[in-house]
Amino acid sequence: MLKEKLNDTFELSNDEKQDILKHKNYYESSRASSIEALKIVQKNRGWISKRALYEIAKILEISASDLEEIATFYSQIFRKPVGRNIIRYCDSVVCYMYGCENIKSFLEKRLDILIGETTKDFRFTLLPTCCLGSCDKAPVIMINDRVYSNLTLQLIAELLESYR
Ligand code: FES
Repeated sequence: MLKEKLNDTFELSNDEKQDILKHKNYYESSRASSIEALKIVQKNRGWISKRALYEIAKILEISASDLEEIATFYSQIFRKPVGRNIIRYCDSVVCYMYGCENIKSFLEKRLDILIGETTKDFRFTLLPTCCLGSCDKAPVIMINDRVYSNLTLQLIAELLESYR
């Protein structure tokens, strides 16, 4: 993980600031726009550093610790650098019955990382997720925004090759 220092130079772009303000104005309480604000910055930066978090909190006029609490609770917000592709394997009950443990082991071995880690080349980050809503086609994984179902280990191996 990259070391973060609070005095590192970091500035939100004007577009990011405008976007955050736009969402802030949608809501009565600016805390309600926190997730959107975090997503705006994460979309551009890949993750939310401590410095970014402070800058976002300033615009939202909420405390950084409040925002940190929200960012930590919401699993879609990354608090450390992640790979270019995020693999989420479903570990909820139906996928569990259909062998998600094998998928997890296969991915860990193939990518040479454990759950929650990122490959050395920053190509993949591996995370668990709860039900992706495709239980009738279990087992299921999601890579970035795309859901893949009825998986076999062979299909997963082919999928990995297609993501750079
Ligand atoms: S349990 Fe895996 S998609 Fe529903």
